[in-house]
Amino acid sequence: MFFRIVLMLYALISMAASADESEVDRAAIEQGRYLFDAANCYACHTDVDNDGAPLAGGRALESDFGIFFSPNITPDKDTGIGNWSDEDFIRALILGIAPDGHHYYPSFPYLSYQNMNREDILAIKAYLFSQPAVSQKNKPHQLAWYLSGFTLRIWKLLNDLAAMPVTYDGSRGSYLVDVLGHCNECHTPRNMLGMLKMQNRLEGNKALSAPDISTSKNGIGGWDKQELADLFRYGELPDGDYVADHMGEVVDNSTSKWADYDLQAVIEYLQR
Ligand code: HEC
Ligand code: HEC
Repeated sequence: MFFRIVLMLYALISMAASADESEVDRAAIEQGRYLFDAANCYACHTDVDNDGAPLAGGRALESDFGIFFSPNITPDKDTGIGNWSDEDFIRALILGIAPDGHHYYPSFPYLSYQNMNREDILAIKAYLFSQPAVSQKNKPHQLAWYLSGFTLRIWKLLNDLAAMPVTYDGSRGSYLVDVLGHCNECHTPRNMLGMLKMQNRLEGNKALSAPDISTSKNGIGGWDKQELADLFRYGELPDGDYVADHMGEVVDNSTSKWADYDLQAVIEYLQR
């Protein structure tokens, strides 16, 4: 009798434990999906124009330095990141370094992501690993001849020393704008070496047709809270027009999915 009770108790406890675990997993995956949207990992890693499979990469990202092709970040073990450890993933996102030690090009916005917290990064990984694995080989980048791994190393050193590339002030609004949303990568002008000119933060980048969104009167200084909310929710501009292209994607994939409190935090941060 005693033995049976112990067995039953044991069975009950282990059932409860596994229910807890899958609850935790599901919660992490849900949280990961939210952060993944806010960071817009989808846009760059999906070849939308050619009906590419989600997250399987192959999207051509044009730049002054050549064409980058985004890699496959599905959990496929051969062609994706299915074999990556948690530490591999964290290192890639905050340091821009691959598991084999090579340095990524900053077309992958790890300079913005460097301030992401570990728990959030691992939630994004849990979400990615819950998605279908797609077997699709990465395409090599087509870059200017002078962009070897060696010049990339020097560039990174300079960038780390010369410009604190992204300012994160610890607030939720800043986390969404500067870190996850990587708004600086498009809206802050760059110097000849492609480094962000942080003294002109958010003042627009002509090469990308990204307008000034600083608080000056050329930027969003004259916008009220409702106008900003309509832009982030629906992509609607104060004159009734809608944003297109890159910002259209940012709105569809990211800003329209912000929870109300995050939307308010961003507006407060941008208007400060
Ligand atoms: C602006 C475009 C862009 C965004 C946004 C972006 N990535 Fe990337 N990502 C790239 C490019 C381009 C590379 C390849 C860089 C290289 O080869 O040097 C890359 C590389 C990677 C790698 C390395 C893959 C490998 O096989 O080595 C991972 C992992 C990754 N990105 C995950 C993410 C996650 C997670 C997010 C969202 C939090 C994200 N990326 C957002 C463009 C982007
Ligand atoms: C991939 C590049 C890219 C990223 C990332 C990006 N934007 Fe934009 N943004 C643009 C472009 C391009 C436009 C102009 C779109 C148009 O007018 O059709 C724009 C327009 C805007 C406007 C309208 C400004 C005006 O005067 O019309 C605001 C506000 C804005 N972005 C805020 C943000 C915020 C906040 C983020 C980060 C969450 C962000 N953007 C991320 C490229 C980007």
